[in-house]
Amino acid sequence: MKFSHIQAFPEIFSTAAREEQILSNLDGYLQLQQVYKAAISEITTKLTILDEEFRYRYDHNPIHHMESRLKSPQSIVLKLKKKEWDISIDSARRNLTDIAGVRVICCYISDVYRIAELLLHQDDVLLLRKTDYIKDPKPNGYRSLHVVVQIPVFLSDRTERVPVEIQFRTEAMDIWASLEHQLRYKSSLNVPDDLQAQLQECAEELANIDRKMLSIYKHIQSMSPKE
Ligand code: GTP
Ligand code: MG
Repeated sequence: MKFSHIQAFPEIFSTAAREEQILSNLDGYLQLQQVYKAAISEITTKLTILDEEFRYRYDHNPIHHMESRLKSPQSIVLKLKKKEWDISIDSARRNLTDIAGVRVICCYISDVYRIAELLLHQDDVLLLRKTDYIKDPKPNGYRSLHVVVQIPVFLSDRTERVPVEIQFRTEAMDIWASLEHQLRYKSSLNVPDDLQAQLQECAEELANIDRKMLSIYKHIQSMSPKE
């Protein structure tokens, strides 16, 4: 082959370029991870402050517990592929609003709405999207209040506005969602119709329990002696 020695050169060049690209992607991902983690911390701190204030003022903790997660690089790529968006860090930042996720498990339905509203009223929290699956449950029975907010993360040289998906739900809603999630992932087949119907019934029963527990709580509250 006449040009073999010349052909080898672009190969070396393209390997170096590829390595540089991989490193720059890795750096981009690490930056994204740091900033989105900071956004999660900001949201959980805001919610913890509200929860502690409620304990102090009303002798009641509206938040039972919180969970948070950063979407894994694999899940980011899968979602970008599924939606037929560009696969790049830039595209993930532009298109995905659930890279940072916080789940807030509350004691009563009234706490879900109260805590969500208080968070949304804060000056630096911008509401991007709100879906109330408690008022309008999904056909399978799924209930939760979903909000996507944007908050500023102040860095040394810039301010990034980062989206965070927050799911507010009661413990009963959380039990149903985690079991349904497991069932869906465990069964490689689709869940048969009759089992779907039973799952939906379970969601209704749990929603009824939530309503009853709230009514008991309100009743007991109205009986407590006022200072
Ligand atoms: P994604 O592309 O999955 O993010 O869906 P979406 O953008 O339409 O958002 P949606 O609000 O429907 O769901 C986002 C998240 O809510 C999911 O990743 C789950 O954590 C939760 N979720 C939504 N629907 C269900 C459901 O039917 N069952 C369970 N267990 N979780 C659900
Ligand atoms: Mg999602």
